[in-house]
Amino acid sequence: MEIKVCIGSSCHLRGSYEVIEKLKQLIADNKLEGKVNLAASFCLGKCGTGVTVTCNGEFLDGVTPETVEGIFNERVLKAL
Ligand code: FES
Repeated sequence: MEIKVCIGSSCHLRGSYEVIEKLKQLIADNKLEGKVNLAASFCLGKCGTGVTVTCNGEFLDGVTPETVEGIFNERVLKAL
C-alpha cells in the first residue's frame, strides 16, 4: 500500500509535516514498515480541503494533524 502526503505550499500550511510525522509513528506502532510505503508528494491538485493524502491513489478527505489517526485506523488498518 502506498500513502502519499502532499507537501505543496497550501497543504504545508495546513500541517502536512505533522501529518507525515504522525503517519510514520502510526506505521511504526502497528509494525507496518514493510507493508505501507509513505511518500511525500508535490501538489496533488486538491488544495482546498485539509492536507491532501492519497492511499493507493484514492483521495482521503479531511486529513489534518488532529484527524489523521482516526482516518488511518479506518482507511488503512482495515484495508490491510
Ligand atoms: S498543495 Fe496540496 S494539493 Fe495542492
